[in-house]
Amino acid sequence: MGREALLIENLRKSYGNLTAVDGISFKVEKGEIFGLLGPNGAGKTTTIKSIIGLLRPDSGEVRLLGRRMPDKNVLGKVGYMPQELALYLNLTVEENLKFYSGMYGISGELFEKRKKEILEFVGLERFKKRLVGELSGGLQRRASLACALLHEPEFVILDEPTVGVDPHLRASFWGHFRELSEGGVTILLTTHYMDEAINCDRVAIMSEGRIVTVSAPQQLIEETHSKNLEEAVLKLTGYTEGRK
Ligand SMILES: Nc1ncnc2c1ncn2[C@@H]1O[C@H](COP(=O)(O)OP(=O)(O)O)[C@@H](O)[C@H]1O
Ligand SMILES: [Mg+2]
Repeated sequence: MGREALLIENLRKSYGNLTAVDGISFKVEKGEIFGLLGPNGAGKTTTIKSIIGLLRPDSGEVRLLGRRMPDKNVLGKVGYMPQELALYLNLTVEENLKFYSGMYGISGELFEKRKKEILEFVGLERFKKRLVGELSGGLQRRASLACALLHEPEFVILDEPTVGVDPHLRASFWGHFRELSEGGVTILLTTHYMDEAINCDRVAIMSEGRIVTVSAPQQLIEETHSKNLEEAVLKLTGYTEGRK
């Protein structure tokens, strides 16, 4: 096992009476592609927002890149693509990148260089002058990914990055993820698509605010005697035939 990139211990977060995250613990290794899987409402987004300090957990500890969160100094090394589109629809792709560069403190020649690299990386070079609001959903997701990766983060958090994205683009996204991971970048992502979750190095299965298990996808399939990951996850989250 490699070195730790993220450690979560006993994380708990409620909204009023609803316990969205119920005391979870897991660890992500450096350079790993780690998937957080589970049905809608399982608590994935709440977990992610608690990791980067967008939500304040009720209790528990988060250590990201060796620092106890929340810690502003770590955020410069983290790229975050939220579940909802967080781009200005009435600005162009380029202008959105410019906006994010200000937040990350990248300017001048460095910005121009990174902008060019990242637009090529996600294949948006020829769309850079287009208003984000006029792009297709798939292209908007690409623009969103570009903004999350602009500052060459060490740790990337992607909340359902491929929702509504066609299979061709999903495959290309996964090519990017693998390339980043091979370069030493750690990726934590959530997804509903089991055919892509199989590409994760390890996955955590979440259900009703708890982590059911953490394992390599192939191992989950074998351990649950399932024919694929989808069946394994259904079994592990209790949604099997004859039960709720
Ligand atoms: N701001 C909020 N206020 C109240 N309840 C919320 C809020 N955000 C999420 N929830 C609830 O918390 C639970 C977990 O949600 P979420 O973390 O978004 O799950 P997931 O990302 O796995 O779909 C759900 O029951 C959801 O309805
Ligand atoms: Mg979510």
